Amino acid sequence: MGVGGCLALPWRCLVVLCLRLLFLVPAGVPVRSGDATFPKAMDNVTVRQGESATLRCSVDNRVTRVAWLNRSSILYAGNDKWCLDPRVVLLANTKTQYSILIQDVDVYDEGPYTCSVQTDNHPKTSRVHLIVQVSPKITEISSDISINEGGNVSLTCIATGRPDPTITWRHISPKAVGFISEDEYLEITGITREQSGEYECSASNDVSAPVVQRVKVTVNYPPYISDAKSTGVPVGQKGILLCEASAVPSAEFQWYKDDKRLAEGQKGLKVENKAFFSRLTFFNVSEQDYGNYTCVASNQLGNTNASMILYEETTTALTPWKGPGAVHDG
Ligand SMILES: *[C@@H]1O[C@H](CO)[C@@H](O)[C@H](O)[C@H]1NC(C)=O
Ligand SMILES: *[C@@H]1O[C@H](CO)[C@@H](O)[C@H](O)[C@H]1NC(C)=O
Ligand SMILES: *[C@@H]1O[C@H](CO)[C@@H](O)[C@H](O)[C@H]1NC(C)=O
Ligand SMILES: *[C@@H]1O[C@H](CO)[C@@H](O)[C@H](O)[C@H]1NC(C)=O
Ligand SMILES: *[C@@H]1O[C@H](CO)[C@@H](O)[C@H](O)[C@H]1NC(C)=O
Ligand SMILES: *[C@@H]1O[C@H](CO)[C@@H](O)[C@H](O)[C@H]1NC(C)=O
Repeated sequence: MGVGGCLALPWRCLVVLCLRLLFLVPAGVPVRSGDATFPKAMDNVTVRQGESATLRCSVDNRVTRVAWLNRSSILYAGNDKWCLDPRVVLLANTKTQYSILIQDVDVYDEGPYTCSVQTDNHPKTSRVHLIVQVSPKITEISSDISINEGGNVSLTCIATGRPDPTITWRHISPKAVGFISEDEYLEITGITREQSGEYECSASNDVSAPVVQRVKVTVNYPPYISDAKSTGVPVGQKGILLCEASAVPSAEFQWYKDDKRLAEGQKGLKVENKAFFSRLTFFNVSEQDYGNYTCVASNQLGNTNASMILYEETTTALTPWKGPGAVHDG
């Protein structure tokens, strides 16, 4: 027997019939709850899923019979429990009040409940609606996605709750942009690298705090060299050439001197490759080191290069010669 298990249908029909004979069940137009006469039930009852709901009915000493019904099934008649649902208990059956408690309320309990009384041989009823609220819950959300710049992205966020939650999408990092969609779906056509980052879906319905989930959108793009400057260094000094490039996925770097690729582990030279730059360090610059260096940055989407000059600077020079720094987009 489930928690909602009231008496089986034929038995219930019989019960309703009995009560109808006892004038307990509405046989015609029910008395409105706004009616000043008895029974007087409370206004609609709103509870959250899992909480308990108290259904109260005011009575007076002229009342001879009382009952609470869930739709057409009797839950309680007087002190007698007619329903098998263990969550339903009698709270009070006094000269002034007839109340029941429904524990651990669930969504299927939502609906009209009727307090039925018999006063001076006249049956009267009043109706109260039990409204069940449910906190929002995100049931489906897009996975993290990696897309090439210019592609189309569609993010989905489905949430449940009572009342139906409002769903919004925000772009929250690297820079908070604010609301960008007040819908379950977020469509981005021709995505740009600035639109990469974390997107947050929020579902709210005022029943509890909004629930949020994040989706990471990675936008891939070919390398772009943002900095490559020529550098003047005197013989015998330390010299550094720096090549800065942004790319997703991160760029791989290669260095050329004139048309010759620089060998790894060359004596007196250190190459450091990081996600956003590559650095050439000459520990003790000699005449042969001067020349035209080209940095090539590449990833799956393409490559680009930039050339810079390591030129001789005399230690006494006040205004060093500015060497050219040419950038070519691959
Ligand atoms: C009320 O009736 C509905 C529909 O039959 C049922 O699912 C639910 O369990 C009942 N609730 C109570 C508290 O009796
Ligand atoms: C009680 O709830 C019912 C059903 O949702 C609604 O029709 C009715 O207007 C409500 N009554 C009050 C007093 O809020
Ligand atoms: C992206 O969407 C636009 C407009 O709907 C369409 O014209 C274009 O072909 C789509 N691009 C891709 C890569 O699907
Ligand atoms: C740099 O190299 C020159 C020539 O080989 C050498 O004389 C000098 O001592 C070196 N300087 C340093 C700091 O190692
Ligand atoms: C350096 O080399 C690149 C590539 O070979 C070339 O395009 C550029 O003109 C050269 N720069 C100078 C100053 O020679
Ligand atoms: C640098 O870029 C130019 C222009 O795209 C290309 O012609 C050249 O081959 C590239 N150089 C290297 C070393 O990749």
